[in-house]
Amino acid sequence: MALHEDQIQVTEVEKAMETASTSEKKTISTILIIIAMQTEALPVVNRFHLSEDPDDVFPKGVPWVRYHGIYKDLHINLIWPGKDSLLGVDNVGTVSASLVTYASVLALKPDLIINAGTAGGFKAKGACIGDAFLASDVAFHDRRIPIPVFDLYGIGARKVFCPSNMLKELNLKVGKLSTGDSLDMSPHDEASILANDTSIKDMEGAAVAYVADLLSVPAIFIKAVTDVVDGDKPTAEEFLQNLVTVTAALDHAIVQVVDFINGKCLSEL
Ligand code: ADE
Repeated sequence: MALHEDQIQVTEVEKAMETASTSEKKTISTILIIIAMQTEALPVVNRFHLSEDPDDVFPKGVPWVRYHGIYKDLHINLIWPGKDSLLGVDNVGTVSASLVTYASVLALKPDLIINAGTAGGFKAKGACIGDAFLASDVAFHDRRIPIPVFDLYGIGARKVFCPSNMLKELNLKVGKLSTGDSLDMSPHDEASILANDTSIKDMEGAAVAYVADLLSVPAIFIKAVTDVVDGDKPTAEEFLQNLVTVTAALDHAIVQVVDFINGKCLSEL
């Protein structure tokens, strides 16, 4: 008997739901940690005894670095986008973040992505230096397209996977994350950030979330606060002053999160 078009559609929806629920019940085995700065990444590499991958899973010539290893029951892949070939500084920002996320997901097929790094925090939302946040939502604050609907596309606000048991168990704050390609904050950025009820501000999160959604991989966002954006210190100065110490807080949060994930499936997080 031939199936009617709407019966075929129902079957496809059922299949998609079944696939989603199967992956929710599968014990997480491969995780992909994306960290933009070497200073943030190396403590985590050392902590989990990860080794640099000599057989590149990435195209020849790209600066992206993969560290990997086994920790407890998990295959951990940590990707650092490397340094700019001309200027020698870390490849921070949304362009590199989305490229490495895309290439890493295709090559490594992770069960879960963790985007970890430092962020600016808003004291008006309860953020203090050294706090580790788990993002509940992400958005962009520097993509302004004042045309109906394109305005919403530019902001790209979306809810992200924010595991409730992890939040209950670990000492993490929760809040909305806003992403842009600048460390400082222009008055336009500030208006968007305030309108979005943002707690923390970074340079990669929403880009990683976009690619994770595109490829249907769950992603969580752990950000440790290096500078108080609505405080009185110049951001770049405060960021550089706190980077190394806050990186230790970030490392601690990542270990707690990875330990919590170990042995669980997505629906238990
Ligand atoms: N990373 C650390 N601090 C930041 C800030 N204030 N803005 C964007 N990214 C950051």
